[in-house]
Amino acid sequence: MPDPSVTIDYADIQGDILRAYGNDYDRASYMFVHVDAATGGQGWLAGLLAQVTNAEHWSPPKPATTLNVALTFAGVRALGVPDGLLASFSDEFREGMAARAELLGDVGPSAPSNWEAPLGSGEGHVLVTIKTHTAAQLDRELADFRAGVERAASVSIVHEQHTQMLRGAREHFGYADGFAQPAIAEVTPHRTLGGGVPEKEDRWRGLALGEFILGYPDEDTLVDPQRRLPSAPEEPLGRSGTYMIYRKLSQDVALFRETLRDAARLYEGGDEEKLAAKVAGRWRNGTPLVSSPEEPIRDFNPKDLANNAFRYLDTDVDGARCPLGAHIRRANPRDALGWKGLEDSGLLSYRHRIIRRGMPYGPPPPAAGGEAAPEEGEHGESEERGLVFVCFNASISRQFEGIQTQWINDGNVFHLGHDKDYLLGDSGTTDKMTVQGDPPFMLAPQPAFVNTRGGEYLFVPGLAALRFLAGGADGVQA
Ligand code: HEM
Repeated sequence: MPDPSVTIDYADIQGDILRAYGNDYDRASYMFVHVDAATGGQGWLAGLLAQVTNAEHWSPPKPATTLNVALTFAGVRALGVPDGLLASFSDEFREGMAARAELLGDVGPSAPSNWEAPLGSGEGHVLVTIKTHTAAQLDRELADFRAGVERAASVSIVHEQHTQMLRGAREHFGYADGFAQPAIAEVTPHRTLGGGVPEKEDRWRGLALGEFILGYPDEDTLVDPQRRLPSAPEEPLGRSGTYMIYRKLSQDVALFRETLRDAARLYEGGDEEKLAAKVAGRWRNGTPLVSSPEEPIRDFNPKDLANNAFRYLDTDVDGARCPLGAHIRRANPRDALGWKGLEDSGLLSYRHRIIRRGMPYGPPPPAAGGEAAPEEGEHGESEERGLVFVCFNASISRQFEGIQTQWINDGNVFHLGHDKDYLLGDSGTTDKMTVQGDPPFMLAPQPAFVNTRGGEYLFVPGLAALRFLAGGADGVQA
């Protein structure tokens, strides 16, 4: 039930968090800017304010370009925010992603020592995300943006990442991606079935806004209004903001394809597509395995919200349809952890939800089907490809890190021992995925298809907070 006491200040919340801009913005550039001196940084930021897109409804046509701003902890400090206010940010944000690498499983090739500089150092202080509908528009926006940085004193671009939607909104391994998102009671009630919290007797309810936007009631405060709101910094930064996770994840498409092809020789008469579906929990076109375990639904529309309204307990408690360790079942177990998972404070699946807004980078892989490895293939490129994984949440430690550490990197809660998510995991400890069935199939080995190339924890201020950071009327004094 939406909380009637909540009035949402959409004009103060940055865009693309509560409501997605949409896949028609199929180009995104992530521009990391270093601030040498607070006053110069503030002046440059002040010049960007008018371009920042907020969460208000757009009357058509949509703007040709969008622009949003986020900051690392070092970035907030570089803009001159006083120590007392800095100390009020959450611990994990202040520490930064690189300092949490072991916890996140970023070891070996994924360790921060192998990351692309300056990712992980926080020195890319301000992340400006620019999205457009066309390459030509993006080129124009980037030219303007670079010129603006050039003109400003004391700021410089230290890292650029350009991304582009692949055909059919697929990611590089070939799966449709990005459509299963949380339903927020007050904002996206139409997504409640499948996106909200599954309850008994087939009911669902939307999540509290404060799970994603700081300064609003969250699931704790709905139960007990006296409870402290999660990790929001103090005023004037505490309202309308959120935390952003930025992770550049490389994907070895050739290795993924080869591994599935080899393993499928021993699986159901060589059914490689079915094995691929078992790994993700969905067929490549997005059809959930729990709804259709034997074949994908032809012309399946993943955007049709009714198609996402499935659960695990009623039809698939033992994982015979969708394996217990499939990527989507781990990343959002819905009711799979049993009612304890919904009511027991130790598990509480619905306290670990994230809003995902990532995009693929690198050239599209060559068409699948016995072709040469992409690195040697028709494009003749050795260029890397992967996913810029972006998500938003109110608590990095409870939400994103909860998913990454307890569900993706560990199988314990699913009674899978130390098994990791096969799609993402270079395990080293177990090297396999159990595909439940009669008999079960051991999908092995588990090479490192996905490696972390770098990342940052960022704070996405509300618009008023952004004005403060830019040194506005009552702004931070540099
Ligand atoms: C290269 C890395 C990754 C790939 C290729 C990938 C792929 C996918 C695919 C194909 C889906 C199903 C489509 C959809 O629901 O939108 C999905 C869903 C999801 N993924 Fe990932 N993913 C990756 C990394 C991650 C990471 C790092 C996390 C979190 C730590 C994550 C969390 C989720 C969540 C929460 C869902 C939605 C599940 C649901 O609500 O049913 N993914 N991913």
